Amino acid sequence: MTESDFIIKNYNANLEKGSVKWASPSNIALVKYWGKKKNQIPENPSISFTLSECKTITEVTFSKKENANFSFDVIFEGENNEAFKPKIQTFFERIEVYMPFLRDYHFKIETSNTFPHSSGIASSASGMSALALCLMSIEQELSSSKIEKPYFNQKASFLARLGSGSACRSIEGELVVWGQNESTDSSDLYGVKYEGEIHSNFKNYQDTILLVDKGEKQVSSTVGHNLMYGHPFAEERFKQAHTNLDVLKNALTMGDFKTFISVVESEALTLHAMMMTSNPYFILMKPNTLQIINKIWEYRKQTASNVCFTLDAGANVHVLYPKSETNSVLQFIKTELVEYCQNQHFICDQIGFGANQIL
Ligand code: DP6
Repeated sequence: MTESDFIIKNYNANLEKGSVKWASPSNIALVKYWGKKKNQIPENPSISFTLSECKTITEVTFSKKENANFSFDVIFEGENNEAFKPKIQTFFERIEVYMPFLRDYHFKIETSNTFPHSSGIASSASGMSALALCLMSIEQELSSSKIEKPYFNQKASFLARLGSGSACRSIEGELVVWGQNESTDSSDLYGVKYEGEIHSNFKNYQDTILLVDKGEKQVSSTVGHNLMYGHPFAEERFKQAHTNLDVLKNALTMGDFKTFISVVESEALTLHAMMMTSNPYFILMKPNTLQIINKIWEYRKQTASNVCFTLDAGANVHVLYPKSETNSVLQFIKTELVEYCQNQHFICDQIGFGANQIL
């Protein structure tokens, strides 16, 4: 597929109004996307677990209007929200060529998250994918023929990517790859459900998110990505992501926890190492992030556990472990790790299967 395949050929703009609603999950990358080219094209491939419980639920009500401007209201958790508008305005501008009906309607975008807003959990992946899916449902209503599921998902992911790169990995589950590479079927333009073999060890994998710092990040992902331009280690890092994806793929097939753990933890630390070695440099981890990492390493040494950690662009720690270890790891989290969480707060999640249409 190329970009021009996503341009609507003909649609029936007579529809006066309607309403659509989707729930779309967050995702956690195992091989990280960090660095992008023009038009939200990633510098390297990434792969993520789709989550199950951490979701954004978005309803879009649309009604025909006369003038040719973009017109929309954003209601977040029941209240008018001006802060989200610039990001959505940019999103509309980027996707307009693929969604020419955007100027024909006024949109009321009502959205909420299943996780607390001030949790430090990035909501851009779930939020942008939920909105992209709603727009696809509207495209379906305006379209004279049925849009087949594969195209629907592909275009939803393609649009979501233009809102926020990682959002393109939130449409389907259980694992999604984004970014051209040698080891898997993939595209730079949208996320693709990972079709490689997944050993039973990695089925229903658990992700408990330890909320170390619920505050707003000091440096946004977009700024962080831009700092990969001219970064002294960028080229090596982009190559490394290809190798790591390849190695991880093999570990997923073989059920090889040891290799999985070493790739996933190394990816998390490399992501933060890129931040610490960019110009200007910055640190998003907090002292408690490091305390937790050390505790996990200690616990792994003392027990035969396969628990490991990953990080996104923030201080929170995602604790990943097999379903079979749920009781012991949760016990470990409660006795040894919650003290490092803000207000002892953590969220239990697991691998999910992608977004769901509600209306
Ligand atoms: C660290 O997708 O938030 O979570 O494309 O600028 O919106 P934009 O960036 P974003 O970057 C997230 C990067 C990451 C790693 C990952 O999810 O792969």
